[in-house]
Amino acid sequence: MKDNTIIVGLDIGTTKITTVIGEVAEGGTVDIIGEGTVNSEGMKRGSVVNLERATQAIRQSIQTAERVSGVKVESVFVSVAGNHAKAITSHGLAAIRRNQEIGQTDVDRAIENARAVPLDPNLEIIHTLPQEYVVDGQEGIKNPVGMHGVRLEVDVHIVAGTAGPLLNLRRCVQEAGLHVEGFALHALASGLATLEAAEQSQTVIVVDMGGGTTDVAVFKRGNLAHSACIPIGGEHVTADLAQILKIPMEEAENVKRRYGAALPELADQDLTLEITTSSGSTHAITAFELSRIIKPRMSEIFGMIRDEIDQTLGPVELVAQGVILTGGAALLRGTPELARDRFRLPVRVGRPRGIGGLTDIVAAPGFAAGVGLVLYGIGEDGKVPASIYTHRGEEPRGSVPPAPQSVPGPADLPAPTPVAPPAPKPEAKPTQNLAERIRGWFKDWM
Ligand SMILES: Nc1ncnc2c1ncn2[C@@H]1O[C@H](COP(=O)(O)OP(=O)(O)OP(=O)(O)O)[C@@H](O)[C@H]1O
Ligand SMILES: [Mg+2]
Repeated sequence: MKDNTIIVGLDIGTTKITTVIGEVAEGGTVDIIGEGTVNSEGMKRGSVVNLERATQAIRQSIQTAERVSGVKVESVFVSVAGNHAKAITSHGLAAIRRNQEIGQTDVDRAIENARAVPLDPNLEIIHTLPQEYVVDGQEGIKNPVGMHGVRLEVDVHIVAGTAGPLLNLRRCVQEAGLHVEGFALHALASGLATLEAAEQSQTVIVVDMGGGTTDVAVFKRGNLAHSACIPIGGEHVTADLAQILKIPMEEAENVKRRYGAALPELADQDLTLEITTSSGSTHAITAFELSRIIKPRMSEIFGMIRDEIDQTLGPVELVAQGVILTGGAALLRGTPELARDRFRLPVRVGRPRGIGGLTDIVAAPGFAAGVGLVLYGIGEDGKVPASIYTHRGEEPRGSVPPAPQSVPGPADLPAPTPVAPPAPKPEAKPTQNLAERIRGWFKDWM
């Protein structure tokens, strides 16, 4: 644990670039002392597509945060979108000499053995995250140091990034005059900022709904155990509206945020909007109809997540005990309710917590990854620093009681629907003809 240290997170997103400056005080409490957000430039779906423009936007974001905090930023932890990462879980083994306690060197040896898997030379390891340990067949051990046994085993979750996109990100950050202290998987960072103490003893799915991508992380008893990236985000919802209603993207974005809902039943049922198309003609549309355009895309995102988890880990209702929705697009009205329908699990909106300082600014879901990068930088072990829970007066990690079989719904949301009939089969691929399907419903007035 680093004390009295400045740690800076740089979340280079598709919609916005955010710098979060954190100060770790004695005892491990974290105060956010600077924040700088600018519209993203030169990025597409988590990739740098224009080095110069991305560098310039990074510079502006850093300068804004520097002005707020009075701190000169030199090095940063940078987010990596899941579509540039591959993850595997590998098994490592270390033999222990008879009558000897397990030492840190034995643990390191087991982890090193797990790391010794052939990886595509085009990949760069960004995380090596030990899960739980097994000593002589006894599972579920968090820290085996000091125990006796002859056989130490560990599963290690290895996340590797594709070299090209990482090089481009590093280049932009360096051109902006900064050193990359480390990379962190976007969804891992979002999870670190939003996981509650009780969720440290459960399996939860963190879904960060950004502009260009939706990043997914499965945390098993506080460890990142699986990650995925769905190449669809809030900007696709905006693009659907712009295309169907024939309005500019900025206006579609505005209409979506103010009047849209992921579930038409939750839209304002008395509201009718007047829309002026790019060609100058005007149409009336109710908030209900607007939300009927939005729902299929949002539903498609959740369907793809369901599919991915079904195929890799098993049926989502059996794998996880809850879903945390975060990222800017999680703010769309009705999103938690739609997610609850699709996952048949308790769903809550995750906001950064357990921090002090500029909490009024960074407590929105869109800041989860930026704040999470600061928390990642504290330990660089991919776990929520225990002091984060102590700060909130909660039981820190490790002393959390075992999870109940079913977790209650979040306080700010109605209770989830009980698990009942099997969920409808989700779409496997992004819907190709979504625009045509929706256009069909609105053909009468278009
Ligand atoms: N109040 C709101 N209601 C609905 N949608 C919102 C709201 N606020 C933000 N969004 C949506 O959130 C998305 C941006 O989310 P976020 O800021 O997390 O993206 P990002 O991190 O830049 O993108 P990515 O993670 O995909 O690279 C946009 O599509 C925007 O429309
Ligand atoms: Mg993001």
